[in-house]
Amino acid sequence: MRIDILTLFPDMFQGPLTESIVKRAVDKGLVEMHFHNIRDYSLDKHKKVDDYSFGGGAGMVMTIQPIADLIDKLKSERDYDHIIYVTPDGERFNQKIANTLSLSGNIIILCGHYKGVDQRIRDHYITMELTIGDYVLTGGELAAAVISDAVIRLIPGVMSDETSALTDSFQDGLLSHPVYTRPADYNGWKVPDVLLSGNDAKIDEWREKKAFERTKQIRPDLLED
Ligand code: ADE
Repeated sequence: MRIDILTLFPDMFQGPLTESIVKRAVDKGLVEMHFHNIRDYSLDKHKKVDDYSFGGGAGMVMTIQPIADLIDKLKSERDYDHIIYVTPDGERFNQKIANTLSLSGNIIILCGHYKGVDQRIRDHYITMELTIGDYVLTGGELAAAVISDAVIRLIPGVMSDETSALTDSFQDGLLSHPVYTRPADYNGWKVPDVLLSGNDAKIDEWREKKAFERTKQIRPDLLED
């Protein structure tokens, strides 16, 4: 899989996507990440990438030319399954969308800034618009990093324990059950007996019950679907 991220701030990706599981996935060649600075494609003599909003109002709008030229260039080099725009007014990203995207060949993620991109980019290039939640970030970069992280860990071969991604919160529509590790007794704080019983059926039953209770209490909306 190849992910091309189109951004005005490529340095923002220096941290989050260069460690841990994502780093391993890149090192193993299971995913390629490419970061493109939109400003490098501006034909304006001052490398401008934004302009005033037609009709007035506060805030600048990202112009078509650099983004269109960059996307055209990438599309001339390979096919893309999805061209995603991350924006607060997109569809809410979730585990189901992560699963779908993890089966893609190549994707582009366009990060918005200011008041967003000219609508014509959305109309003519974008195939999917995603938000990571009902709050406004300073730009799309952190959202693109979140989406990339959630997708990359689902690519077959990325997680060392294959079952681990399958038992995540949300993968089966429920939050995770509680987990414990050694010591079994920490200054009187004890691990539930059932987990030490060695009875797999009982343990599964307990975990399912706890996952259900936790979901009912914290995220009852998940049980409605
Ligand atoms: N850009 C700014 N805020 C965002 C959000 N919540 N999700 C996706 N992109 C964004």
